[in-house]
Amino acid sequence: MPKTTPAWWPDAGQVICALADMPVNKARGFTLYGDDDEKLELIIWRRGDAFTGFVNQCPHMGLPLETFPDRFLSADGDALICSAHGAHFRFDGACFSGPCQGQNLRRVALSVRDGRIYLAANQP
Ligand code: FES
Repeated sequence: MPKTTPAWWPDAGQVICALADMPVNKARGFTLYGDDDEKLELIIWRRGDAFTGFVNQCPHMGLPLETFPDRFLSADGDALICSAHGAHFRFDGACFSGPCQGQNLRRVALSVRDGRIYLAANQP
């Protein structure tokens, strides 16, 4: 099983993006950087006014989900898709189709306030 706990994790309260950077019913990728080449790659998915966040690492082989920037969602917008082998994930991060069915993306606690989206916890 791939390692899905990142080696580095930013402090809670880190700004991920402005709310205006997250279109309704879209998913986007973001990278947070530390001081020594550390980085954490995240996916934020917005449905209406609901947001969910994940570490961008597929539970199948530990790869990032996208091949092209911000191309995460199925055509109907109902699933995140891993471009490597086609795993499909629900809004809660559960894989319902593909080689890691029954496993989950690692969720990231988010806080939305004052026109920004923040990392809400020190560890997922
Ligand atoms: S790495 Fe995601 S489905 Fe294989």
